[in-house]
Amino acid sequence: MSVTYTTAPGRVPGLGHAVALMRSPLGFLTSLRAHGDLVRVDLGTMPSLFVTSPPLIHTLLTDRKDLLDKGRFYDKVRPLTGNGVIHAYGAEHRRQQAMIKPSFHRDEITRYIEVMREVTEEKTAHWRAGDEIPVDKAMRDITFNILARTMFGSVVDRAAHEELAAILPTVLEAIMWRTVSPGDLLEKLPLPMNRRFDAAFAQLRDAISRVMLAYRRGTAEPGTAGMLSMLLEARDPETGRAMSDEELCNQIVSVTMAGSETAATAMAWLFYELARHPEMEERVRTEVLEVVGERDFEMADVGDLPYNRRVLQELMRVRQPILVISRRAVRDFPLGGGHVKAGTELFYSPYAVHRDPDLFPDPLRFDPNRWLDRPAATLPKGAYTPFGAGPRHCIGEQFAWAMMHVVLGTIIRRWQLTLADGAKVKEMPWATVNPNHMPMTVSPVRRREPVACP
Ligand code: HEM
Repeated sequence: MSVTYTTAPGRVPGLGHAVALMRSPLGFLTSLRAHGDLVRVDLGTMPSLFVTSPPLIHTLLTDRKDLLDKGRFYDKVRPLTGNGVIHAYGAEHRRQQAMIKPSFHRDEITRYIEVMREVTEEKTAHWRAGDEIPVDKAMRDITFNILARTMFGSVVDRAAHEELAAILPTVLEAIMWRTVSPGDLLEKLPLPMNRRFDAAFAQLRDAISRVMLAYRRGTAEPGTAGMLSMLLEARDPETGRAMSDEELCNQIVSVTMAGSETAATAMAWLFYELARHPEMEERVRTEVLEVVGERDFEMADVGDLPYNRRVLQELMRVRQPILVISRRAVRDFPLGGGHVKAGTELFYSPYAVHRDPDLFPDPLRFDPNRWLDRPAATLPKGAYTPFGAGPRHCIGEQFAWAMMHVVLGTIIRRWQLTLADGAKVKEMPWATVNPNHMPMTVSPVRRREPVACP
């Protein structure tokens, strides 16, 4: 039996739902829940099904029979990014995951904490009282540098980290552009934009090759070369084979693609929400000062900041950076009491589900304490999936929580950020839901001097 669905209103012959989607992408996606559990949306001439109910989303995410791959959008960027872990399917996906996972083990993250703190301090060291900082760009710079440094460790010098961090945004822009552009024609034309993208990819691959060469020449001790050394030492569990240079490059692009824009966007919204809620900001700061004080962050602190954690949990709900997640049925896929046919493109929007009023009362209110009344584990499966679920669950989840805690804590104990006068921040739907801009004024936090006992 085929699956039952409703069609979203606003379909125009030949254009599908393109007009509705272009007019108000976020409004359109959040409106779909009202039309049913499975809603047909035509992306141009391509029919697709949006899954809106948590149990069906859970079914989609937890397919362990290799009935789903990542879908058409990923096919489009595969020529650029290769078949890294975010693209791979079935047994190949499991093989790659097994090789990458050790790099995200808690012990490794413990070592990356130092890098997270160091980069944040370096990148905010030039801030002066009253400066207006583009916080969205600052968070991107911090995140890319953290990723570049955790990946390449001490094999390359600071200038090379900066070079890599500078290329990454163009590479990601290219990937996102290809993901959303209709057809294939635009990307094949010799436009300046395409030339810029090709140059950035070539530069990235070249930089990665140089790093690998330096590592293989023995200029770095094992363990000092960050994630890259773990990947270089990783062996296929079945064949014992190491990754080829091409595979390594694909994994680095994959991990960067998955981890940079998501985290950078989330952290920009974090400072925005704290600026809108000064009492929360003060509570976050007080907790950091009480638990960590002026010393360096440690891994143990990440689990010892319950209020900070609730703020971040709420951030990942209301300001979920990922707009849509895609899959495609490779074979007929059981869903909602029927089957979707092989070839069907399926989507769900974590952004929209996290704003569903039936699941989260008063969903747009930023309220960290809602997690006290209703811990995430008590929600229906599929209702809160900031890091996905099932076999494709985010490998970098623990890395991301640690990074958000450390960046937040390092900044908040020194600085107060307030939205610049007259700034109007809007959500811009792209592959992630970015702010259009985020100018903020920074003021140093007045230190509470210890009071001498009489
Ligand atoms: C706030 C930040 C982040 C968010 C919201 C996020 C969210 C997600 C989600 C929802 C998925 C599942 C996608 C799917 O089901 O198709 C995913 C996958 C993934 N994430 Fe993250 N992520 C974040 C940060 C990171 C970081 C920092 C890294 C690495 C350093 C990372 C690496 C990955 C990788 C490699 C995958 C692919 C896993 C696979 O397909 O097996 N992510 N992420």
